[in-house]
Amino acid sequence: MKCKICKSTAVVALKSHNAGFCARCYKDFFARQVARGIESQKLFTREERILVALSGGKDSLALMLELARQDYDVTGLHIDLGIPGASAGARGVVERFCSKHGLKLMVRDMAAEGLPIPAVKARLNRPVCSACGKIKRHFFNKTALDEGFDALATGHNLDDEVARLFSNTLRWDTAYLSDQGPMLAGERGFARKVKPLWRLTEFETANYAFLMGIEHHYAPCPYSPGASFTTLKGLLQRLEAAMPGRKLDFYQGFLKRGRPVFARREAEEGIALNPCTLCGYPTSSGDLCGVCRIRAALRTAQA
Ligand code: AMP
Ligand code: FES
Ligand code: ZN
Repeated sequence: MKCKICKSTAVVALKSHNAGFCARCYKDFFARQVARGIESQKLFTREERILVALSGGKDSLALMLELARQDYDVTGLHIDLGIPGASAGARGVVERFCSKHGLKLMVRDMAAEGLPIPAVKARLNRPVCSACGKIKRHFFNKTALDEGFDALATGHNLDDEVARLFSNTLRWDTAYLSDQGPMLAGERGFARKVKPLWRLTEFETANYAFLMGIEHHYAPCPYSPGASFTTLKGLLQRLEAAMPGRKLDFYQGFLKRGRPVFARREAEEGIALNPCTLCGYPTSSGDLCGVCRIRAALRTAQA
């Protein structure tokens, strides 16, 4: 197969775009998709400061590198979860990556915050993943606001987004359907959240990471039995193989014609948010936010 652009030998074939690319033209293709994703949804500008959440996985590292190459003002944020056999490796990958490319990095250590995930796990009688997700999102938001960033970016890709959309649709979860998308505007104690890789699949991002020589973290979290949405992602993969391009169409159709309808409905119903009585961040509970409740529970367990 030949490169669609320069006609030299192709190293990547993309069915959804009905095209093959050589390494150089593939990097350009990836860059164009990221740029279109940012500009078409007005995610942020070059004048704004962006905090990029870096897990050590290929998606977030690829995102960070590409934004830096496109001259965006980026700083990395890694949350060290304190999980033995997993967190030190992930943190090492992120630290080496940022120093290799001369990129700014902030690390938040959950053990130092009184929230190491193994202790949280020991305290809960249910799987720790949702509490862990809540803690991560809390520190993404808090760091972005405390340090004056304009937006917080994550490495979610098209496969993550479409699987989540499909899952929300299967449950007709109108609250989630009303604000799912590449951008969630900042408001009342919440930083703007953006997902600049929303046009790119896992496969496309993995190819970019490989061609750019990005070292990434392989060890899966020892507490989660599998990646999220595995079944739905498999189903969508089969759909995409039979109908190339359908995933992106489905997602873009939702953004254009689905989301506004759900958003109007949710705005009519409106949920009241109040500041957490301890840390001040918004919560619907009327008292402590979820993270402060977890922290308090750990303190009583240790007392
Ligand atoms: P995941 O839910 O693990 O697929 O992660 C989705 C996105 O959240 C990643 O692409 C990162 O941007 C971010 N993320 C996940 N875990 C961490 C972490 N420990 N520190 C910083 N960012 C993270
Ligand atoms: Fe949070 Fe596994 S990464 S529970
Ligand atoms: Zn709180």
